[in-house]
Amino acid sequence: MANQVESTRYKLGARTVSRIGYGAMQLAGPNAFGPPTDRKAAVAVLREAIERGVDHIDTSDIYGPHTTNEVIREALHPYRDGVLIATKVGAVRGPGGSWEAAFSASDIERAVHDNLRNLALDVLELVNLRVMFSAMGPAEGSIAAPLAALAALQRRGLVRHIGLSNVTPAQIEEARGIVEIVCVQNHFNVAHRRDDAIVDELAARGVAYVPFFPLGGFSPVQSALLDAVAARRGATPMQVALAWLLRRSPNILLIPGTKTLAHLRENLASASVELSDDDVRALGRIARG
Ligand SMILES: NC(=O)c1ccc[n+]([C@@H]2O[C@H](COP(=O)([O-])OP(=O)(O)OC[C@H]3O[C@@H](n4cnc5c(N)ncnc54)[C@H](OP(=O)(O)O)[C@@H]3O)[C@@H](O)[C@H]2O)c1
Repeated sequence: MANQVESTRYKLGARTVSRIGYGAMQLAGPNAFGPPTDRKAAVAVLREAIERGVDHIDTSDIYGPHTTNEVIREALHPYRDGVLIATKVGAVRGPGGSWEAAFSASDIERAVHDNLRNLALDVLELVNLRVMFSAMGPAEGSIAAPLAALAALQRRGLVRHIGLSNVTPAQIEEARGIVEIVCVQNHFNVAHRRDDAIVDELAARGVAYVPFFPLGGFSPVQSALLDAVAARRGATPMQVALAWLLRRSPNILLIPGTKTLAHLRENLASASVELSDDDVRALGRIARG
């Protein structure tokens, strides 16, 4: 199978990865809760992603919980050399699927061990500390204690690299005083650009920015501007949304999520969608509109 995503790469921790990766959250049941609706299809999506050149998979043991990592293990273990699996700790699921902060040192250690066991790994290559001080997005508050707990697990050799998720600029700055931060994973897409300055600041430092909800998340972005550019380019609106992110900054690494092979193929093909300066100007109006 042809490698669709080999063209551009960027540093993530000690490795470089293709700028188009894959986000595994959609493989769990509805609202990322419960087992996959179609486990065979989930396995097929993961295997095809790797066959097509994806070498960066984003996951968490809280998707399911546990089941998404179990499906990744079933589909891909033993992992192909060079495939980087990034995960997250800092939250747990309530009985009805709610997302709850889990920030004590024992919560962080349990989450690291859950990920190691369910992914069948001895070391986690990249762990993002997922901050959850508010349900509404990033909110201020010190992250020193949970980050120190994660850094202690790194010193014990269970975690290789550390990133942050759902954080403010002040929290990124605080974290840098505690441990090396190799990426930030926050909500960002063509319609949601609160992090524009963070993207640029990380790019200047050579640090990866990994937008979550690159297509808009559970309700993908809809916009007449996106449709118009897609029609001009002979692409789909979702391909244009991803191409806009690739064009926005070289440190942006994509992890679009899907449970279907058709959407996986479509998303990987966004690597070949070229946007003109006029397209970019038009798309720039989505977030202000
Ligand atoms: N750190 C965090 O707090 C956090 C939060 C959310 C997500 N994440 C990570 O970020 C990854 C990406 O986010 P996400 O999966 O929630 O959202 P997303 O990638 O923005 O969008 C996924 C949604 O778009 C649909 N979709 C995918 N490709 C499509 C296409 N080509 N055409 C039309 N619809 C398409 C999917 O449905 P189908 O399944 O039907 O394709 C799904 O409903 C996740 O998988 C997860 O790893 C992290």
